[in-house]
Amino acid sequence: MTEVQTKQIEETIGFVKNTLQEAEGGHDWFHTQRVFRNALHIGEEENADLFIVGLGALLHDIADSKFYDGDEDIGPQMAQDFMNKIKVSKSVQQEVIRIIQHISFKGGNFKQGYKSIELDVVQDADRLDALGAIGIARCFNYGGFKNRKLYDPEILPDLKMDKETYKKSEAPTINHFYEKLLLLKDRMNTNTGKQLAEERHNYMENFLEQFYREWNMDIKQL
Ligand code: NI
Repeated sequence: MTEVQTKQIEETIGFVKNTLQEAEGGHDWFHTQRVFRNALHIGEEENADLFIVGLGALLHDIADSKFYDGDEDIGPQMAQDFMNKIKVSKSVQQEVIRIIQHISFKGGNFKQGYKSIELDVVQDADRLDALGAIGIARCFNYGGFKNRKLYDPEILPDLKMDKETYKKSEAPTINHFYEKLLLLKDRMNTNTGKQLAEERHNYMENFLEQFYREWNMDIKQL
């Protein structure tokens, strides 16, 4: 990165920290920070443009639509206004905006209309943060934020949700493991991302086994 770019990244960090002060625990500055760090690591391995990766990672959750009544334009708009202010070139802006527009999962049952190595990298970094111990913590925190049940054996996971149903889902948090988290390992874009996802995926499977053992009071097994 050039000196100017490093300075722009620093300014972006300040802006994002400030903007996400009141954010829900799983989508706050620390989430963005983890995604930023993982994205730079993956981006380096995958020879991506680290300036675009850095900006994309820092701005990817600046206004997540699920906290803005499903409004998907507000995030890209805020990112663009900010990048204009700190004089990021138009061509980089365009790449970063596309990352923000295309990164999210939204049920996974729809075709992604845009591809770039930088999007692949930031998306992998964001997905990694939904896996493993942090993924579990974030998942239950979000469920609590939405006042969802932890688990209900009567309500089975729904694997065929479209984008709209997925957004409105009120299912117990455990279902979210089957509807999203356990599917992510096979949807990682880059080789580096795939390798990093493996351990976190196994950790979640162990967590679920233990959860059911305790739920069913299978004392012998504990
Ligand atoms: Ni995110």
